[in-house]
Amino acid sequence: MLELRSLYKKFQSGIGNGRLALKDVSLNLRPCDFVTVIGSNGAGKSTLLNVISGVFPVDDGQIIIDGQDVTNLPEYKRASVLGRVFQDPMQGTAGSMSIEENMAMAFKRGKPRSLSRGVLAKDRGYFKEKLSSLGLGLEDRLKEPVKLLSGGQRQALALLMATLSSPKLLLLDEHTAALDPRTAQEIQDLTNDIAKQHNLSVIMVTHNLRLALAVGTRTIMMHEGEIILDMRDPERSKMTISDLLRRFQDAKGEMLSDDRILLEA
Ligand SMILES: Nc1ncnc2c1ncn2[C@@H]1O[C@H](COP(=O)(O)OP(=O)(O)OP(=O)(O)O)[C@@H](O)[C@H]1O
Ligand SMILES: [Mg+2]
Repeated sequence: MLELRSLYKKFQSGIGNGRLALKDVSLNLRPCDFVTVIGSNGAGKSTLLNVISGVFPVDDGQIIIDGQDVTNLPEYKRASVLGRVFQDPMQGTAGSMSIEENMAMAFKRGKPRSLSRGVLAKDRGYFKEKLSSLGLGLEDRLKEPVKLLSGGQRQALALLMATLSSPKLLLLDEHTAALDPRTAQEIQDLTNDIAKQHNLSVIMVTHNLRLALAVGTRTIMMHEGEIILDMRDPERSKMTISDLLRRFQDAKGEMLSDDRILLEA
């Protein structure tokens, strides 16, 4: 489904020049694999998602999605095979545009450019149906600008939009981190439902270790640009947070350093 072959990425700018943001990262995802990603600050987690989606080119290695080598494809050409949701609810949706305009934009992603600017009547029915599946009443607010929505409603909409053009792969970068605990749980439940419903492969970055172990089928840990641990069910499902921290320490000889890490909640 997704194959990463020995990826390298180095940023030229900034301090710590010469440090690799990704170092020999290889990963094979089967269809419906749901991988949670944890790791120290600056470990390369967001960079990994950025190179898969084509925000940055890699310096070396290959990225293959669903049998197609996308390593040299620009970001917009990968948009039909993958969806993504970011930490910031403001980032995934356009605040000044209405709910239906946002959805129309997401629906057109990866399709040949159409001349119509507005929302087609035939699509509106589909958007309504999708929105009502969220159970948030957004289907009755199609014309409202998205900036009037709460953070949780916006993330729910962002998730819906990310999966509207039927991608194979969903990339989530701490997409519940900016939400209060209850809303975060609701968005996580929605994520799990959507992944199952669309048979998606998912890569989800989180600072919540409990969540990392509770959700999905596999957990990888990154440190200084490398994948240092890769754990799958059933072995993973028996692990506790202390086991995880111990495994990190055994592998690296130091404690996991992450100022946003969540050990509880
Ligand atoms: N656009 C960029 N330009 C220069 N350096 C960058 C850029 N993006 C990331 N880096 C560097 O690459 C390294 C990995 O960063 P990345 O954002 O992937 O870490 P992360 O694991 O997502 O960390 P966090 O948990 O803090 O979000 C860091 O050293 C970071 O400073
Ligand atoms: Mg990050």
